Amino acid sequence: MAVDAAPALLHWYDMNARTLPWRTLPDAKQAPDPYRVWLSEIMLQQTTTAAVAPYFARFTARWPTIETLAAAEEAELMAAWAGLGYYARARNLIACARTIAAQHGGRFPQQETALRALPGIGAYTAAAIAAIAFGQRAVVVDANVERVVARLFALETPLPAARPELRRLTDGITPDARAGDFAQAMMDIGATVCMPRAPRCLICPLAEICAARATGEPERYPVKAPKRAKPERRGIAYWLERDGAVLLSRRPPRGMLGGMRALPGGAWHDAAPEATPPISADWRPIGAVRHVFTHFALTLDLLAARGEAKAADGEWWPVDRIEEAGLPTLYAKAAPLAAAWREAA
Ligand code: ADE
Repeated sequence: MAVDAAPALLHWYDMNARTLPWRTLPDAKQAPDPYRVWLSEIMLQQTTTAAVAPYFARFTARWPTIETLAAAEEAELMAAWAGLGYYARARNLIACARTIAAQHGGRFPQQETALRALPGIGAYTAAAIAAIAFGQRAVVVDANVERVVARLFALETPLPAARPELRRLTDGITPDARAGDFAQAMMDIGATVCMPRAPRCLICPLAEICAARATGEPERYPVKAPKRAKPERRGIAYWLERDGAVLLSRRPPRGMLGGMRALPGGAWHDAAPEATPPISADWRPIGAVRHVFTHFALTLDLLAARGEAKAADGEWWPVDRIEEAGLPTLYAKAAPLAAAWREAA
């Protein structure tokens, strides 16, 4: 079935494009800055536009160009990223900026294949940058686009098996001209009209050609394979205080939350937690923090005490400025529990 979605979609985008800090509007004469497109696309992976906006503003104020970002201290960049999650993105960000500075004269390559060779740039991001920043015809498929396309064609194949088919179908409706606007229009339709649970078909520019709408149950698409429960992991984290400061450590450079500041603690296991405290002290249980990662859910039992520890074991951070430590959300959740323990003691 030939479906001609692009004209209606681009017309809708001309009238309804969302104003977003990293975007130039469809009638702008100037192409968007590839640096800003790249930075926003990395930040927007698995993260909402509302969560990204303040980070994007802070990053571009502090590091306005790819060269300034390439020259940044890795620890400073990781701290600025704290709270956005998926920290491998931040490590790849600096690696990518440095590769572009060293090997590409500080300019982004324009072709999808060259973009894909850069750290942290996968198929989606390469296509998005090629289309949005450089006007190339590229097939851009993110989760919003998948949903719109699965509905447009009422695709019965469940996700994730449907991915290759969804890509082919998206390729089939992507225009040669304005592929960047087309991609962003699909994302905006997905975010504001073709919503997961309650699609607003009455205002949708694609309603007339949408096969899912014709079934009367558009929200049934994309069909999903049944979810498996996430594995549970457990761990222990220690809150050690001395003179209004808490002892912080750093996560190992590779792996989960790699290179980020953390509370001292042991490995995360499937079984009962075990760990060695940083010092022997009167450790008291003060509650637990929980965080759901992509592949597992983690509960950390928190133990608190007062005492001295050797500086080599970490750094002492003022408790009243703990938000400035750049702790990942998992560990930041411990601060209110520690405050309650301090007040009760
Ligand atoms: N999500 C990811 N990239 C986006 C973009 N360029 N516009 C809107 N939403 C997005």
